[in-house]
Amino acid sequence: RIKRIKARQVFDSRANPTVEVDVELECGSRGRGTVPSGASTGIYEALELRDGNPNSFRGKSVLKAVENVNQCIAPALTGTNALKQSIIDMTMLNLDGTENKSKLGANAILGVSIATAWAAANACETPLYRYLGGVQAVTLPVPMVQIIGGGLHAGQSIDIQDFLIIPVGAATYSHGIEMVANVYHATKEVFTKYGKPLSVADEGGFWPTFSANAEGLDLLVEGIRQAGYQAGAEVAIALDIAASHFYQDGKYTFAAEGREMDSQEFARLLSGWVDKYPIISIEDGMAEDDWDGWSILSAQLKNRIQLIGDDLFTTNAGRIKRGIDQNIANSVLIKMNQIGTITETLQAVELTRNAGYLPVVSARSGETEDATIVHLAIATNAGQLKVGSIARTERTVKWNELLRIEEELGTEAVYPGQDIFRRIIK
Ligand code: PGA
Ligand code: ZN
Repeated sequence: RIKRIKARQVFDSRANPTVEVDVELECGSRGRGTVPSGASTGIYEALELRDGNPNSFRGKSVLKAVENVNQCIAPALTGTNALKQSIIDMTMLNLDGTENKSKLGANAILGVSIATAWAAANACETPLYRYLGGVQAVTLPVPMVQIIGGGLHAGQSIDIQDFLIIPVGAATYSHGIEMVANVYHATKEVFTKYGKPLSVADEGGFWPTFSANAEGLDLLVEGIRQAGYQAGAEVAIALDIAASHFYQDGKYTFAAEGREMDSQEFARLLSGWVDKYPIISIEDGMAEDDWDGWSILSAQLKNRIQLIGDDLFTTNAGRIKRGIDQNIANSVLIKMNQIGTITETLQAVELTRNAGYLPVVSARSGETEDATIVHLAIATNAGQLKVGSIARTERTVKWNELLRIEEELGTEAVYPGQDIFRRIIK
């Protein structure tokens, strides 16, 4: 039973305040949840409550969310059985009473949800992935890792947000992440060769000083080859276009190239890239409200590559259902703070999988030392995890946790590798 819930304000990886919650049980077990924060957020996400006071952390303090945990959620949950995660989460949903968690704040609610799950797992002396996923939770996710940043995470110096890689040729997680590290270092050499600065964007990938978006693809292919891998067969490319953020009045604008396209033209551009480059996955290739554009893109690429909806679906069951009904995309990005509780996140993964879509568990651009998403990915056997780059501690804390769990699971571990995509690509 829950004895004490205590929230505080701490920092995320972008020097912005965020909510951290500690939960203590009567048996003495403790759990902690530190909430991440997005920058290229979807408009349908649950509300992240910030104070908006210009004199306090540039309007970004979260003291009201902290107070909501300490004054409102804590008294309501004290004495509740921490093993009943869905009751904990539903109690908070009822306390909040709004559609998008705007009264208490999704950041307040999620902090408690995560901290309670850890406290319960610790009370059971079980790793969190096992506690949430049971004995069948044995799948280590295939990593999707950012090598070059962009979009809102790099001052919009290039339009596309993430140039990522997936080590499809690896037989184990540790081999896969080693391949990723090799490509990261090789791409750094490629950047140096072309006289590009070695600065990094928000998620630790290299900062883009490009004249055109496709230059990122060329550099990445060169980085993969420079590392000694076959581009495509061993290391494939994934993109997060984050198209919502350069879409307006029916037009997609590549500001960096002075180029404007309608949905049809933009879909043709992306399909052309899939023909030319070893791309296996594209996220948010169309904007969150451009369902027609999504239909066009899905018709062209759904059977060829993974098409992920992030801003499109916002881990929201209603929006995921609409996508499934309209045969749009074939994969869903899963972010806990887009929806706000562990229970609803687990439901979103189940809905995704039941439709034959692939779930990709994901971090946010603003992260912390919290590694809960790693456990979530294994608990749900999601098969894929996206965390940003392989540099910076808020990123490596996730990749390193996976190395430890791989060691712990030993021969019990399952690593899907390339096979994960066979479920969607014909
Ligand atoms: P965000 O970026 O956390 O800033 O939303 C991550 C993503 O778009 O996948
Ligand atoms: Zn995204």
